[in-house]
Amino acid sequence: MKFLDLGQQPIANAFLTPGKCENEFFYNLEVGVDLETSLVSHVDFVPPSMMFNDTYVYHTSSSKTMVKHFRSVAKEIKRDFGDVKILEIGSNDGTFIKNFDLDKAIAVEPCGNFAKLTTEMGYTTHNEFWSQKLAVQLAHRHNRFDVIYSANCMCHIQDLDSAFRAIYYALDDNGVFIFEDPSLLEMLERNSYDQIYDEHAHIFSVTALNNILHTMGFEIFRVDKTPIHGGSNRIFVKKKHSIKNPPDGSLDIELEQEDLAGISDKQTYLDFAKRVETSKHKLLELLHDIKDGGNKIVSYGATSKSTSVFNYCGIGPDLVDYITDTTPDKQGKLSPGVHIPVVSPKEGFDDSVDYAFLGAWNFLEEITKKESKFLRRGGQFITHVPEVRTLRGEPANV
Ligand code: TYD
Repeated sequence: MKFLDLGQQPIANAFLTPGKCENEFFYNLEVGVDLETSLVSHVDFVPPSMMFNDTYVYHTSSSKTMVKHFRSVAKEIKRDFGDVKILEIGSNDGTFIKNFDLDKAIAVEPCGNFAKLTTEMGYTTHNEFWSQKLAVQLAHRHNRFDVIYSANCMCHIQDLDSAFRAIYYALDDNGVFIFEDPSLLEMLERNSYDQIYDEHAHIFSVTALNNILHTMGFEIFRVDKTPIHGGSNRIFVKKKHSIKNPPDGSLDIELEQEDLAGISDKQTYLDFAKRVETSKHKLLELLHDIKDGGNKIVSYGATSKSTSVFNYCGIGPDLVDYITDTTPDKQGKLSPGVHIPVVSPKEGFDDSVDYAFLGAWNFLEEITKKESKFLRRGGQFITHVPEVRTLRGEPANV
Protein backbone atom coordinates (compact mmCIF):
# COMPACT_ATOMS: atom_id res chain seq x y z
CA MET A 1 0.00 0.00 0.00
CA LYS A 2 1.43 3.33 -1.07
CA PHE A 3 1.22 5.88 1.75
CA LEU A 4 3.71 8.70 1.19
CA ASP A 5 4.83 10.85 -1.72
CA LEU A 6 7.96 12.95 -1.14
CA GLY A 7 7.77 14.39 -4.64
CA GLN A 8 10.52 14.86 -7.19
CA GLN A 9 13.89 14.05 -5.62
CA PRO A 10 17.45 14.02 -6.94
CA ILE A 11 20.22 11.52 -6.08
CA ALA A 12 20.79 12.52 -2.43
CA ASN A 13 24.58 12.43 -2.57
CA ALA A 14 25.05 13.74 -6.12
CA PHE A 15 26.47 17.19 -5.37
CA LEU A 16 26.81 19.39 -8.42
CA THR A 17 29.61 21.54 -9.76
CA PRO A 18 28.39 25.14 -10.20
CA GLY A 19 27.70 25.81 -13.89
CA LYS A 20 27.23 22.10 -14.60
CA CYS A 21 23.72 21.47 -13.37
CA GLU A 22 22.00 20.56 -16.59
CA ASN A 23 20.49 17.08 -16.99
CA GLU A 24 20.21 16.51 -13.26
CA PHE A 25 18.37 13.24 -12.60
CA PHE A 26 15.07 13.40 -10.67
CA TYR A 27 12.64 10.67 -9.76
CA ASN A 28 9.36 10.55 -7.86
CA LEU A 29 9.96 9.32 -4.31
CA GLU A 30 6.94 7.30 -3.25
CA VAL A 31 6.90 4.95 -0.29
CA GLY A 32 4.73 1.95 0.44
CA VAL A 33 4.26 -0.79 3.01
CA ASP A 34 3.82 -4.45 2.17
CA LEU A 35 0.92 -5.30 4.48
CA GLU A 36 1.88 -8.99 4.48
CA THR A 37 5.47 -8.65 5.71
CA SER A 38 5.27 -5.04 7.05
CA LEU A 39 8.29 -4.13 4.94
CA VAL A 40 8.42 -0.41 4.11
CA SER A 41 10.10 0.31 0.76
CA HIS A 42 10.20 2.72 -2.13
CA VAL A 43 7.55 2.06 -4.75
CA ASP A 44 10.22 2.38 -7.50
CA PHE A 45 13.92 1.98 -6.93
CA VAL A 46 16.71 4.15 -8.31
CA PRO A 47 19.33 2.07 -10.22
CA PRO A 48 22.12 1.29 -7.68
CA SER A 49 24.96 2.35 -9.99
CA MET A 50 23.51 5.88 -10.08
CA MET A 51 23.98 6.15 -6.30
CA PHE A 52 26.95 3.96 -5.44
CA ASN A 53 29.83 4.61 -7.79
CA ASP A 54 33.40 5.89 -7.83
CA THR A 55 32.36 9.44 -6.91
CA TYR A 56 30.37 8.53 -3.81
CA VAL A 57 30.94 11.24 -1.19
CA TYR A 58 29.63 9.93 2.14
CA HIS A 59 32.52 9.25 4.54
CA THR A 60 31.59 7.28 7.64
CA SER A 61 34.52 8.84 9.48
CA SER A 62 33.13 12.36 8.98
CA SER A 63 31.67 12.24 12.47
CA LYS A 64 33.49 11.43 15.70
CA THR A 65 30.31 9.75 16.94
CA MET A 66 30.50 7.19 14.11
CA VAL A 67 34.19 6.48 14.62
CA LYS A 68 33.59 5.85 18.33
CA HIS A 69 30.46 3.82 17.58
CA PHE A 70 32.18 1.40 15.18
CA ARG A 71 35.17 1.01 17.50
CA SER A 72 32.85 -0.08 20.25
CA VAL A 73 30.78 -2.39 17.98
CA ALA A 74 34.01 -4.12 16.90
CA LYS A 75 35.03 -4.52 20.54
CA GLU A 76 31.66 -6.04 21.41
CA ILE A 77 31.84 -8.49 18.50
CA LYS A 78 35.25 -9.68 19.67
CA ARG A 79 33.98 -9.93 23.25
CA ASP A 80 30.84 -11.88 22.31
CA PHE A 81 32.06 -14.04 19.41
CA GLY A 82 35.84 -14.27 19.86
CA ASP A 83 38.67 -13.91 17.38
CA VAL A 84 36.43 -14.25 14.34
CA LYS A 85 36.94 -14.30 10.61
CA ILE A 86 34.74 -11.44 9.47
CA LEU A 87 33.29 -10.14 6.23
CA GLU A 88 32.03 -6.58 6.06
CA ILE A 89 29.49 -5.70 3.37
CA GLY A 90 29.61 -1.97 2.57
CA SER A 91 32.93 -1.08 4.17
CA ASN A 92 32.96 2.60 3.06
CA ASP A 93 36.20 4.24 4.27
CA GLY A 94 37.17 1.38 6.60
CA THR A 95 35.94 2.99 9.84
CA PHE A 96 34.65 -0.38 11.13
CA ILE A 97 37.00 -2.88 9.52
CA LYS A 98 40.16 -1.11 10.67
CA ASN A 99 39.42 -2.47 14.14
CA PHE A 100 40.17 -6.03 12.88
CA ASP A 101 43.43 -7.73 11.92
CA LEU A 102 44.27 -7.63 8.22
CA ASP A 103 44.27 -11.43 7.90
CA LYS A 104 40.91 -11.83 9.64
CA ALA A 105 38.74 -9.36 7.74
CA ILE A 106 37.52 -9.05 4.16
CA ALA A 107 35.73 -6.02 2.75
CA VAL A 108 33.05 -5.64 0.07
CA GLU A 109 32.47 -2.14 -1.27
CA PRO A 110 30.97 -1.12 -4.62
CA CYS A 111 32.28 2.47 -4.56
CA GLY A 112 35.73 2.39 -6.16
CA ASN A 113 37.08 5.44 -4.31
CA PHE A 114 36.35 3.77 -0.96
CA ALA A 115 37.41 0.27 -2.00
CA LYS A 116 40.76 1.84 -2.86
CA LEU A 117 41.09 3.20 0.69
CA THR A 118 40.61 -0.17 2.43
CA THR A 119 42.85 -1.86 -0.14
CA GLU A 120 45.56 0.68 0.68
CA MET A 121 45.03 -0.08 4.37
CA GLY A 122 45.91 -3.69 3.49
CA TYR A 123 42.46 -5.33 3.56
CA THR A 124 41.39 -7.66 0.77
CA THR A 125 38.58 -5.62 -0.72
CA HIS A 126 36.10 -6.73 -3.35
CA ASN A 127 35.08 -3.67 -5.31
CA GLU A 128 31.61 -4.79 -6.33
CA PHE A 129 27.99 -5.02 -5.21
CA TRP A 130 27.08 -7.80 -2.82
CA SER A 131 25.66 -10.71 -4.84
CA GLN A 132 25.16 -14.46 -4.83
CA LYS A 133 27.98 -14.80 -7.33
CA LEU A 134 30.38 -12.96 -5.01
CA ALA A 135 29.21 -15.02 -2.01
CA VAL A 136 30.10 -18.26 -3.82
CA GLN A 137 33.44 -16.85 -4.93
CA LEU A 138 34.30 -15.69 -1.39
CA ALA A 139 33.26 -18.92 0.27
CA HIS A 140 35.53 -20.84 -2.11
CA ARG A 141 38.45 -18.49 -1.76
CA HIS A 142 38.31 -17.73 1.98
CA ASN A 143 36.02 -20.47 3.38
CA ARG A 144 32.82 -19.45 5.10
CA PHE A 145 32.76 -16.58 7.60
CA ASP A 146 32.19 -16.66 11.37
CA VAL A 147 30.66 -13.20 11.25
CA ILE A 148 29.17 -11.19 8.41
CA TYR A 149 28.67 -7.57 9.41
CA SER A 150 26.95 -4.78 7.59
CA ALA A 151 26.01 -1.29 8.81
CA ASN A 152 23.69 1.06 6.95
CA CYS A 153 23.96 -1.07 3.86
CA MET A 154 21.35 -3.85 3.94
CA CYS A 155 18.59 -1.21 3.74
CA HIS A 156 20.27 0.01 0.53
CA ILE A 157 19.86 -3.37 -1.15
CA GLN A 158 16.73 -3.52 -3.28
CA ASP A 159 16.57 -7.30 -3.76
CA LEU A 160 16.68 -8.45 -0.14
CA ASP A 161 15.78 -12.00 -1.01
CA SER A 162 18.88 -12.42 -3.12
CA ALA A 163 21.14 -10.55 -0.64
CA PHE A 164 20.04 -12.68 2.33
CA ARG A 165 20.42 -15.89 0.30
CA ALA A 166 23.96 -14.85 -0.56
CA ILE A 167 24.68 -14.22 3.12
CA TYR A 168 23.30 -17.62 4.03
CA TYR A 169 25.72 -19.16 1.57
CA ALA A 170 28.80 -17.28 2.76
CA LEU A 171 28.10 -17.73 6.48
CA ASP A 172 29.50 -20.61 8.50
CA ASP A 173 26.79 -22.99 9.79
CA ASN A 174 27.38 -21.66 13.31
CA GLY A 175 28.16 -18.17 12.11
CA VAL A 176 26.45 -14.91 12.95
CA PHE A 177 25.13 -12.26 10.60
CA ILE A 178 24.96 -8.84 12.29
CA PHE A 179 23.51 -5.82 10.60
CA GLU A 180 22.30 -2.42 11.66
CA ASP A 181 20.11 0.10 9.91
CA PRO A 182 17.77 2.95 10.88
CA SER A 183 14.66 1.77 12.70
CA LEU A 184 11.22 2.26 11.20
CA LEU A 185 9.68 2.58 14.66
CA GLU A 186 12.07 5.43 15.52
CA MET A 187 11.29 7.11 12.20
CA LEU A 188 7.55 6.92 12.86
CA GLU A 189 7.94 8.16 16.43
CA ARG A 190 10.35 11.00 15.58
CA ASN A 191 8.63 12.05 12.37
CA SER A 192 12.04 11.76 10.75
CA TYR A 193 10.72 11.28 7.23
CA ASP A 194 14.12 12.42 5.94
CA GLN A 195 15.38 8.90 6.65
CA ILE A 196 13.66 8.26 3.34
CA TYR A 197 15.87 9.04 0.34
CA ASP A 198 17.11 7.19 -2.72
CA GLU A 199 19.71 5.04 -0.92
CA HIS A 200 17.31 3.84 1.77
CA ALA A 201 15.35 1.48 -0.45
CA HIS A 202 13.77 0.06 2.71
CA ILE A 203 13.26 1.33 6.23
CA PHE A 204 13.35 -1.79 8.38
CA SER A 205 11.14 -2.74 11.25
CA VAL A 206 12.19 -5.72 13.35
CA THR A 207 8.80 -7.20 12.46
CA ALA A 208 9.48 -7.11 8.72
CA LEU A 209 13.00 -8.50 9.10
CA ASN A 210 11.73 -11.29 11.31
CA ASN A 211 9.05 -12.18 8.74
CA ILE A 212 11.51 -12.16 5.84
CA LEU A 213 14.52 -13.82 7.48
CA HIS A 214 12.36 -16.64 8.85
CA THR A 215 11.39 -17.78 5.39
CA MET A 216 15.05 -18.01 4.42
CA GLY A 217 16.31 -20.38 7.10
CA PHE A 218 17.51 -17.65 9.46
CA GLU A 219 16.57 -16.82 13.04
CA ILE A 220 17.00 -13.50 14.83
CA PHE A 221 18.43 -14.26 18.28
CA ARG A 222 19.13 -10.75 19.55
CA VAL A 223 18.17 -7.15 18.79
CA ASP A 224 20.17 -4.22 20.19
CA LYS A 225 18.86 -0.68 19.95
CA THR A 226 21.41 2.03 19.24
CA PRO A 227 20.96 5.82 19.08
CA ILE A 228 23.03 5.99 15.86
CA HIS A 229 21.48 7.66 12.81
CA GLY A 230 18.50 8.83 14.81
CA GLY A 231 17.76 5.38 16.24
CA SER A 232 18.85 2.11 14.67
CA ASN A 233 18.39 -1.59 15.32
CA ARG A 234 21.34 -3.95 15.37
CA ILE A 235 20.00 -7.37 14.37
CA PHE A 236 21.85 -10.59 15.27
CA VAL A 237 20.97 -13.53 13.06
CA LYS A 238 21.98 -17.19 12.95
CA LYS A 239 21.03 -20.15 10.82
CA LYS A 240 17.89 -21.77 12.24
CA HIS A 241 19.47 -25.17 12.73
CA SER A 242 22.46 -23.85 14.68
CA ILE A 243 22.24 -24.53 18.42
CA LYS A 244 24.79 -21.82 19.19
CA ASN A 245 23.49 -18.40 20.26
CA PRO A 246 20.04 -19.12 21.72
CA PRO A 247 17.53 -16.21 21.61
CA ASP A 248 18.07 -13.76 24.48
CA GLY A 249 14.47 -12.48 24.62
CA SER A 250 15.17 -9.08 23.07
CA LEU A 251 13.46 -9.99 19.78
CA ASP A 252 10.14 -10.64 21.52
CA ILE A 253 10.34 -7.31 23.36
CA GLU A 254 10.95 -5.41 20.11
CA LEU A 255 8.20 -7.27 18.26
CA GLU A 256 5.77 -6.46 21.04
CA GLN A 257 6.73 -2.78 21.04
CA GLU A 258 6.30 -2.56 17.29
CA ASP A 259 2.97 -4.34 17.50
CA LEU A 260 1.78 -1.85 20.14
CA ALA A 261 2.86 0.98 17.83
CA GLY A 262 0.75 -0.52 15.03
CA ILE A 263 3.65 -1.42 12.74
CA SER A 264 1.41 -3.74 10.69
CA ASP A 265 -1.61 -1.42 10.59
CA LYS A 266 -2.48 0.56 7.52
CA GLN A 267 -3.66 3.50 9.64
CA THR A 268 -0.21 3.95 11.25
CA TYR A 269 1.25 4.83 7.86
CA LEU A 270 -1.64 7.05 6.80
CA ASP A 271 -1.27 8.98 10.09
CA PHE A 272 2.49 9.28 9.55
CA ALA A 273 1.94 10.71 6.07
CA LYS A 274 -0.35 13.37 7.56
CA ARG A 275 2.27 14.30 10.18
CA VAL A 276 4.91 14.58 7.45
CA GLU A 277 2.79 17.05 5.55
CA THR A 278 2.14 19.10 8.69
CA SER A 279 5.88 19.09 9.41
CA LYS A 280 6.56 20.49 5.94
CA HIS A 281 4.11 23.38 6.39
CA LYS A 282 5.40 24.19 9.87
CA LEU A 283 9.02 24.17 8.73
CA LEU A 284 8.30 26.47 5.81
CA GLU A 285 6.35 28.81 8.06
CA LEU A 286 9.16 28.93 10.63
CA LEU A 287 11.88 29.52 8.04
CA HIS A 288 9.87 32.29 6.35
CA ASP A 289 9.18 33.97 9.73
CA ILE A 290 12.86 33.87 10.66
CA LYS A 291 13.96 35.11 7.26
CA ASP A 292 11.35 37.88 7.24
CA GLY A 293 12.78 38.99 10.59
CA GLY A 294 16.02 39.83 8.79
CA ASN A 295 17.98 36.81 10.04
CA LYS A 296 20.55 34.73 8.21
CA ILE A 297 19.78 31.03 7.99
CA VAL A 298 22.31 28.38 6.98
CA SER A 299 22.16 24.60 7.15
CA TYR A 300 24.49 22.41 9.18
CA GLY A 301 25.63 19.19 7.44
CA ALA A 302 24.99 18.59 3.72
CA THR A 303 23.33 15.28 4.49
CA SER A 304 21.20 12.96 2.39
CA LYS A 305 18.49 13.68 4.92
CA SER A 306 18.61 17.42 4.22
CA THR A 307 18.44 16.71 0.47
CA SER A 308 15.19 14.90 1.15
CA VAL A 309 13.75 17.68 3.35
CA PHE A 310 14.79 20.55 1.08
CA ASN A 311 13.45 18.94 -2.08
CA TYR A 312 10.21 17.79 -0.46
CA CYS A 313 9.56 21.20 1.14
CA GLY A 314 10.94 23.29 -1.71
CA ILE A 315 13.62 24.98 0.41
CA GLY A 316 16.32 26.65 -1.69
CA PRO A 317 18.95 29.40 -1.51
CA ASP A 318 16.22 32.04 -1.04
CA LEU A 319 15.71 30.68 2.49
CA VAL A 320 18.99 28.94 3.31
CA ASP A 321 22.06 30.95 2.27
CA TYR A 322 24.41 27.97 2.22
CA ILE A 323 25.17 24.64 3.85
CA THR A 324 28.31 24.02 5.89
CA ASP A 325 29.87 20.57 5.74
CA THR A 326 33.18 19.09 6.83
CA THR A 327 33.49 16.79 3.79
CA PRO A 328 36.01 18.29 1.33
CA ASP A 329 34.30 16.53 -1.64
CA LYS A 330 31.01 18.31 -0.90
CA GLN A 331 32.55 21.78 -0.43
CA GLY A 332 32.40 24.18 -3.39
CA LYS A 333 29.49 22.17 -4.80
CA LEU A 334 25.75 22.75 -4.95
CA SER A 335 23.33 20.58 -3.02
CA PRO A 336 21.30 18.12 -5.11
CA GLY A 337 18.02 19.37 -6.51
CA VAL A 338 17.66 22.74 -4.82
CA HIS A 339 21.23 23.89 -5.50
CA ILE A 340 22.20 25.48 -2.19
CA PRO A 341 25.97 26.18 -2.10
CA VAL A 342 28.04 23.98 0.23
CA VAL A 343 31.01 25.53 2.04
CA SER A 344 33.40 24.44 4.77
CA PRO A 345 32.39 25.28 8.36
CA LYS A 346 35.54 27.38 8.61
CA GLU A 347 34.37 29.52 5.72
CA GLY A 348 30.69 29.65 6.57
CA PHE A 349 29.95 29.01 10.23
CA ASP A 350 30.90 32.46 11.44
CA ASP A 351 29.36 35.25 13.54
CA SER A 352 27.05 36.29 10.70
CA VAL A 353 24.94 33.14 11.16
CA ASP A 354 21.77 33.61 13.22
CA TYR A 355 20.08 30.25 12.62
CA ALA A 356 21.31 26.89 11.40
CA PHE A 357 18.99 24.12 10.20
CA LEU A 358 20.28 20.80 11.50
CA GLY A 359 20.75 18.67 8.41
CA ALA A 360 22.64 16.28 10.69
CA TRP A 361 20.15 16.37 13.61
CA ASN A 362 21.21 12.83 14.45
CA PHE A 363 24.54 14.22 15.67
CA LEU A 364 22.92 16.85 17.90
CA GLU A 365 25.10 16.04 20.90
CA GLU A 366 28.37 16.15 18.93
CA ILE A 367 27.34 19.35 17.14
CA THR A 368 26.08 21.28 20.17
CA LYS A 369 29.31 20.42 21.98
CA LYS A 370 31.35 21.64 19.03
CA GLU A 371 29.26 24.77 18.47
CA SER A 372 28.84 25.91 22.08
CA LYS A 373 30.17 29.36 21.12
CA PHE A 374 27.40 29.75 18.50
CA LEU A 375 24.76 28.87 21.08
CA ARG A 376 26.28 31.09 23.77
CA ARG A 377 26.20 34.13 21.50
CA GLY A 378 22.49 33.57 20.85
CA GLY A 379 22.68 31.46 17.68
CA GLN A 380 19.87 28.96 17.32
CA PHE A 381 19.51 25.62 15.63
CA ILE A 382 16.38 24.69 13.73
CA THR A 383 15.15 21.13 13.54
CA HIS A 384 12.06 19.30 12.35
CA VAL A 385 12.73 16.23 14.54
CA PRO A 386 10.61 15.20 16.35
CA GLU A 387 8.75 18.43 15.70
CA VAL A 388 9.57 21.72 14.04
CA ARG A 389 11.26 24.01 16.58
CA THR A 390 14.30 26.13 17.35
CA LEU A 391 16.95 25.10 19.86
CA ARG A 392 18.69 27.81 21.81
CA GLY A 393 20.71 28.35 24.97
CA GLU A 394 23.59 26.59 26.62
CA PRO A 395 24.46 23.29 24.91
CA ALA A 396 23.44 21.34 28.01
CA ASN A 397 19.88 22.65 27.69
CA VAL A 398 19.43 21.98 23.99
P1 TYD B 1 24.86 11.95 8.31
O1 TYD B 1 23.67 12.20 9.18
O2 TYD B 1 25.62 10.72 8.55
O3 TYD B 1 24.46 12.06 6.77
P2 TYD B 1 23.41 11.25 5.85
O4 TYD B 1 22.03 11.85 6.05
O5 TYD B 1 23.94 11.52 4.48
O6 TYD B 1 23.47 9.83 6.28
O7 TYD B 1 25.81 13.24 8.46
C1 TYD B 1 27.07 13.27 7.94
C2 TYD B 1 27.30 14.56 7.18
O8 TYD B 1 27.25 15.66 8.06
C3 TYD B 1 28.68 14.57 6.54
O9 TYD B 1 28.57 15.16 5.25
C4 TYD B 1 29.50 15.45 7.46
C5 TYD B 1 28.48 16.38 8.03
N1 TYD B 1 28.83 16.85 9.38
C6 TYD B 1 29.33 18.14 9.53
O10 TYD B 1 29.48 18.89 8.56
N2 TYD B 1 29.66 18.56 10.80
C7 TYD B 1 29.49 17.75 11.89
O11 TYD B 1 29.81 18.18 13.01
C8 TYD B 1 28.97 16.43 11.71
C9 TYD B 1 28.76 15.53 12.89
C10 TYD B 1 28.64 16.02 10.43
